[in-house]
Amino acid sequence: MSAVTIDNVMKTYGDVVAVDSLTLEINNKEFVVLLGPSGCGKTTTLNMIAGLDVPTSGHIRFDGESVEHLPPEKRDISMVFQSIALYPHKSVYENIAFPLRMARGPKREIDSRVRSAAGLLRIEALLDRKPHQLSGGQRQRVALGRAVVRDPSVFLFDEPLSALDAKLRVDMRVEIKKLHERLGATFVYVTHDQVEALTMADRIAVIDGGRLQQYATPDEIYQRPANLIVAKFVGSPSMNFVPGRLIESAGKWRFAGEGLEVSLPEGLLDDPHRSGRSELILGIRPERAALGGTADGTGWVYATEPVGSDLFVDVTFDGPDTIDPRLFKIRTRPDLRLRSGEQVAVTLPLEHLYFFEPDGRRLWPRDGAA
Ligand SMILES: Nc1ncnc2c1ncn2[C@@H]1O[C@H](COP(=O)(O)OP(=O)(O)OP(=O)(O)O)[C@@H](O)[C@H]1O
Ligand SMILES: [Mg+2]
Repeated sequence: MSAVTIDNVMKTYGDVVAVDSLTLEINNKEFVVLLGPSGCGKTTTLNMIAGLDVPTSGHIRFDGESVEHLPPEKRDISMVFQSIALYPHKSVYENIAFPLRMARGPKREIDSRVRSAAGLLRIEALLDRKPHQLSGGQRQRVALGRAVVRDPSVFLFDEPLSALDAKLRVDMRVEIKKLHERLGATFVYVTHDQVEALTMADRIAVIDGGRLQQYATPDEIYQRPANLIVAKFVGSPSMNFVPGRLIESAGKWRFAGEGLEVSLPEGLLDDPHRSGRSELILGIRPERAALGGTADGTGWVYATEPVGSDLFVDVTFDGPDTIDPRLFKIRTRPDLRLRSGEQVAVTLPLEHLYFFEPDGRRLWPRDGAA
C-alpha cells in the first residue's frame, strides 16, 4: 500500500519553472488524475513520483517516508506511457513476463502471474502472438499487463490512451477504471483530456503553468470550479463567459453584459472581502442556459451543431450579421429547427449562474454555500 505525498515541490530547468510549489496528498488506493494543458508540468510531476526526475526543492513521500533518494526500481511503482514500448520480437507472454524475468522470479510463479494479468486484461488468447499481430488496443492491454504483473502499490500513467482512436479510448477508459477497482492500488494518471479525468478519477488535480488550480472530486470540479482556468478547462463545450458590470436600476443591483442583463443571486453582494469593483464575469454552462423563456437577453442564431443526442446552438449577441462574433453556446433538444440569423430569446436561470472576479477567482456560488 502507498499513499503519495507531494510536498511543496518545485522543479525548474534553467529559467523554466515546470512545477511550481505543488502540494498534493494522494491517499492509498485513490485514483487521482493530474489534468491540465500541454506543458503545464504533468509529466514532470509524474516523473518525480517515479524517481525519473528529482525535485529542485520540496519532498516526495510514500506512506510518509521520503523517497527522493530512491531509484525508480526501489519505489514499488509501475509506469505506463503513451508510446507503448513492447519488445517486437518477444511474444505477448514474454513481454508481460519481462519485468519478472528481470527480477529473476521463480518460473512457476512467473507463469501464474502472467496468466492472471492476462486474464484480468482479457488477453489470454493472445499470449503467443507478437506485437505486430495485435491491434492498437490489444497492444495497450499488453502494456498494462506488463505493469500489472509486478503487483506494485502505485501505478503511474502518462497519457496511456492518447495514441488510440476515439472509440477505443472510451472502451479503455472503462477498462482502466475496472482495473483500479480490482487491483486496489494507488493510481496517478496524467491526461489533458478532461473527459478522461471526469470519468475515471476519485479526485482531479487541475494544473496550469506548473501550479495547482484545484484539487477536488470530479463533481466539485465541474459544479464549483475554483477559478476561470478550471471553469474553462473542464466541460465540453466549455462554460460560456460574459464580461460585464454591476449596475443599479430602480434601487436594485443587476449584472449587465454584452446583450444580457440578469438580476443577481441573493447574497452575491454581501461579501465583505469584495473590494467593490463593478466588473465581473458571468459564467453559465451550455446545458443550463435556455432558449426562449423570460429572456435575459436577445441574440441571433449564428450556427447550429447537431450531435445526435443534443443540439448545440451558437448564439451571438453582437448582431445578426457580425463576421467574427463572440459565441454563446446553448444545449437544446435535437429536434429543434432553427435558421441562421433567426432572433432568439435567451434565459439564464439564476440558480445556475457563476460569477468570477476579473482576476479569475470564483465569487459565486460562494464557498460553503449550498
Ligand atoms: N528536460 C527539460 N528541460 C527543459 N525544460 C523542460 C524539460 N522537461 C520539461 N520541460 C519544460 O517544463 C514544462 C513542463 O513540461 P511537462 O513535460 O511536464 O508538461 P506536460 O504537462 O506533461 O505537457 P504535455 O501534455 O505536452 O505532455 C514545459 O514548459 C517543458 O517545456
Ligand atoms: Mg506530458
